[in-house]
Amino acid sequence: MSLNSLNEIAEYIVSDGKGILAADESTGTIKKRFDTIDTESNENNRRTYREMLFQSEGMKDNIGGVILFDETIKQNAADGSSLVSVILKQGALPGIKVDKGLSPIEDGSGETVTNGLDDLDQRCKEYYKIGAKFTKWRAVINIGDGIPSDNCIDENMSRLAQYAKIVQVNKMVPIVEPEVLMDGSHDIDQCYSATSRVLKSLFAHLVDLGVDIEGTILKPNMVISGSTCPEQAGVQEVAKKTLKCLIENVPEDLPGITFLSGGQSDIDATAHLDAMNKIGGFKWKLSFSYGRALQQAALKTWMGKDENIHSAQAAFSHRALMNKEAALGIWNKDSEN
Ligand code: 13P
Repeated sequence: MSLNSLNEIAEYIVSDGKGILAADESTGTIKKRFDTIDTESNENNRRTYREMLFQSEGMKDNIGGVILFDETIKQNAADGSSLVSVILKQGALPGIKVDKGLSPIEDGSGETVTNGLDDLDQRCKEYYKIGAKFTKWRAVINIGDGIPSDNCIDENMSRLAQYAKIVQVNKMVPIVEPEVLMDGSHDIDQCYSATSRVLKSLFAHLVDLGVDIEGTILKPNMVISGSTCPEQAGVQEVAKKTLKCLIENVPEDLPGITFLSGGQSDIDATAHLDAMNKIGGFKWKLSFSYGRALQQAALKTWMGKDENIHSAQAAFSHRALMNKEAALGIWNKDSEN
């Protein structure tokens, strides 16, 4: 694979309906996932689990990039080859999460900012040498009483732009992830308004710092009802409002938008993506960068047991194919069987 520019890397990741497997859970988050299947989160189990996903047949043709955590990008497969080489062999590009998590903004609002800019340049150089072609930074925005505040949005989007600039100087594609959380009882229109403010601010900061938009991927939330909102918007409403929000705020020359799943069910995440691609009317590739919505079924099938690896790989491969179909707008419920 010879990909010479940031734009070529970005376009490859989302080519032909391919999307991204987000497997970059921090040590704390992967422990939470393993707790649900009564499996100890030690280095060997984390390796076994992630190698199982990366070796799945469904990686080929469906997954264009895999986001890794620091531990994983340096880990070897059971046969001694690097996990990076396993991913490349499947036709996907390795990427790396480079943010260092959240800390509270000191105004008592409960809002947060994302950390990790201090030594980012140095870490980028190290990851580039290991083979990373792209990176991810996640900013988190909450909806609630009087929030998100302008200050929280501005500070987080400014940091996302600074991150993107440093990453591009280091010859990797930045995935910019401003996640408006679905936690809460807000309705879909409140999500629309928060997401719209966030995206406006993000692209203003990116343009301000001279970030190459053609060498960037956006990883947004969909515009959906809060998880405890009594009236949940249906698939068509989510698809239409998400598209409207993106068309109003995202430049056309961005090569790809890859959604996070954010706690949606596997089928909802697929159905929403498919509905948007069926509607069409945009230039970017609209695809997926799912963590939970790609892994949940495989995790529950695996249960930490070697004898379940084949069926867990089949479960993962199925979701990868379903989401590729959604990215092409050719999925339907019958494909699930
Ligand atoms: P989910 O799809 O589980 O939200 O994870 C995607 C991700 O990378 C969050 O940062």
